[in-house]
Amino acid sequence: MQNISVIGAGTMGNGIAHVAAQKGFRVSLVDTQPQQLEKAIKTIAGNLDRQISKGVLTEADKLKTLTAITTYGSVATGVASADLVIEAATENTDLKLSIFRLLDEHAPAGCILASNSSSISITRIASVTRRPGSVIGLHFMNPVPVMKLIEVINGYATTADTTRQMIELAGRLDKTPCVVNDYPGFIANRILMPMINEAVYSLYEGVAGVQEIDTVMKLGMAHPMGPLQLADFIGLDVCHSILNVLYEGFGNPKYAPCPLLTNMVTAGFLGVKSGEGFYRYTPGSKELVVSARFTR
Ligand SMILES: NC(=O)c1ccc[n+]([C@@H]2O[C@H](COP(=O)([O-])OP(=O)(O)OC[C@H]3O[C@@H](n4cnc5c(N)ncnc54)[C@H](O)[C@@H]3O)[C@@H](O)[C@H]2O)c1
Repeated sequence: MQNISVIGAGTMGNGIAHVAAQKGFRVSLVDTQPQQLEKAIKTIAGNLDRQISKGVLTEADKLKTLTAITTYGSVATGVASADLVIEAATENTDLKLSIFRLLDEHAPAGCILASNSSSISITRIASVTRRPGSVIGLHFMNPVPVMKLIEVINGYATTADTTRQMIELAGRLDKTPCVVNDYPGFIANRILMPMINEAVYSLYEGVAGVQEIDTVMKLGMAHPMGPLQLADFIGLDVCHSILNVLYEGFGNPKYAPCPLLTNMVTAGFLGVKSGEGFYRYTPGSKELVVSARFTR
């Protein structure tokens, strides 16, 4: 396996392209938005510079990594010689299904088709292709160059050989694979999202304030970040939609998003990306300031 095509050059796509190119793969990075491709290459160059300043990479490594990445504006051309496609486009079921139909049409026979989806069923994605045995989930964590885990998700029809090849790939990327089956939220989000939702409920019911909830989990459970800060980092809209996937997938009200979370998302308070969630974010400042809505 030598050629990897990455579909989507956003937060996750640029990280996956970075790691794959740095580990010696030839990478085709595909996005329908030219400005996203431009931004991704700048981000990768910046992250490589950070690795150089830490002494873990040389200028020559940086050049080699960047030259291993070619950008494409269309799936059809970007996957023509792929051994593996990793799809990391926007989290939307209809969009992913249409991308996988295209991948099935244009990727070589024998090419494995993986999705980095956080919550959409791999079995459902595989069902629109003529190669469901070669469709699998590769759930990288954000930020990809830093985080060691890949959750490898077996769809109902995924073959043992496809899984074996992805475990090998994880090793070549210097990541640790964990193989799980395809049920709502897989493992990471099935466990993480109810914890975040419970933290929001504790705030909503007045059990404690934002700082207290996060401090209990940081100092008491040795979590590097409290659940409310983590929710802001992930994006409250993303948390809300994954909770709905769990709620609908299991038909169990215990996963229903807290009404406070729903209100915040509806009002556009999405966390870091919108500038305010449980905390308020000022560009250039690392200080963690609780949103005024939770201090009055
Ligand atoms: N952000 C995270 O923390 C995180 C973590 C794990 C998994 N994921 C998953 O990774 C995927 C990508 O998330 P992200 O945060 O990088 O999103 P993002 O919004 O940063 O990037 C998505 C990219 O997909 C591109 N895109 C949209 N339609 C396309 C198409 N038809 N063809 C090619 N490119 C297309 C967009 O232009 C954009 O650049 C999602 O499935 C998400 O659930 C995200």
